[in-house]
Amino acid sequence: MKNLALLLAFVTVVSAQSQEFGQCGGIGWTGPTTCVAGNSCVQLNPYFFQCLPSSSTSGSGGSTSTAPAALPTGTSTASTNTVAKGIGKLYFGSATDNPELPDTAYETILNNTGFFGQITPGNSMKWDATEPEEGVFTFSGGDQIANLARANGQLIRGHNCVWYNQLPSWVANGVFTAAQLTTIIQNHCGTLVSHYAGEISSSYAWDVINEPFNDDGTWRSDVFFNTLGESFVPIALQAARAADPKAKLYINDYNIEFAGPKATAMMSLIQTLKSTNVPVDGVGLQCHFIVGEVPTDLETILQEFVALDVEVAITELDIRMTLPETDALLAQQKTDYQNVIAACKAVAGCVGITIWDYTDKYSWIPGTFPGQGAACPWDANFIRKPAYDGIIAGLTA
Ligand code: G3I
Repeated sequence: MKNLALLLAFVTVVSAQSQEFGQCGGIGWTGPTTCVAGNSCVQLNPYFFQCLPSSSTSGSGGSTSTAPAALPTGTSTASTNTVAKGIGKLYFGSATDNPELPDTAYETILNNTGFFGQITPGNSMKWDATEPEEGVFTFSGGDQIANLARANGQLIRGHNCVWYNQLPSWVANGVFTAAQLTTIIQNHCGTLVSHYAGEISSSYAWDVINEPFNDDGTWRSDVFFNTLGESFVPIALQAARAADPKAKLYINDYNIEFAGPKATAMMSLIQTLKSTNVPVDGVGLQCHFIVGEVPTDLETILQEFVALDVEVAITELDIRMTLPETDALLAQQKTDYQNVIAACKAVAGCVGITIWDYTDKYSWIPGTFPGQGAACPWDANFIRKPAYDGIIAGLTA
């Protein structure tokens, strides 16, 4: 009996520590905050602290550093947005998110229009944030970012009107007739887009439709497609056009950056919309890539979309790796960033590039892909990485 009690106590102690690559902290986290031996708890973003092998971290538990001092850094003195505009692009931009803004070191770089001429709110214009209850709109988070962009003179990409994810439960779990859901989409897109009308038309574009397809090119099964079929797309686009006639209206997706069924499905959708006079101005290619696996036909795909009489933009670029970072991975990441940027440079209809936050400190990757990260051009301490030089090389070479 005594032995059993000892064993139970031991198990409790063991289970009170997170395993390697397990979560060990962050906003809302109620689990263990220490790591098993050989690991340190590293803050990767406010929502996600992760147990990483101590050899891959430069500090003790709770450090914000993920880049040992010995790793190579960027050396370019050129500024991304300045260079992008100099070669005829509209902007080089970054996603951001409201919880990051109190971080003054972070915001100082975000506000620097030499680096960033455009901002995409990563979460605060999504449906769950803007219409949590039917007909009850809250714009405070989106407004904070729109105000920041306006103060800086930066463009805004509205993100997004209709997406299967981050829906409030009244939409995601609702049972609607086609007529009811049509009205709901029209009201949501119309109210959201008109709230930022002028702001975003001068500020550029809306991702009206986000991620409508499965990877095999079939339509994603969600409340929109299941209730309305493909017609949810024109319903949303027409509502957005009516709400802000000058905003560029985009459809945005991932895994359309290379030839395959999903890219084909997106091209077919654009052709259908164009042939039926539905307003659509652009295709956003998200470009969430993996180091060493960047598609080689990106430029061709960009040209094929542009040939359909739309513009294109790289909307959510990041290039992740399996941690820990090494010199070789960072060198490959630099090459990968250069190749992606060069593809956009080569296509006149590719209007701009947005990275999906600029620093590893606030990247979404570790929270979604445990054991992976270091996807951004700035490290978690705001030091520019070789990837930054790759961006400049892609813009200039
Ligand atoms: O707001 C809640 C907070 O109340 C709670 O305490 C906390 C606990 O986990 O979660 C918070 O919500 C998080 C939300 O971001 C807001 O920060 C979610 O957990 C988290 O899953 C969510 O992640 C976002 C993700 O979309 C959701 O799919 C990322 O930040 C955001 O960068 C990411 O962005 C998407 C694009 O919109 C579309 N393309 C892919 C891209 C990356 O997934």
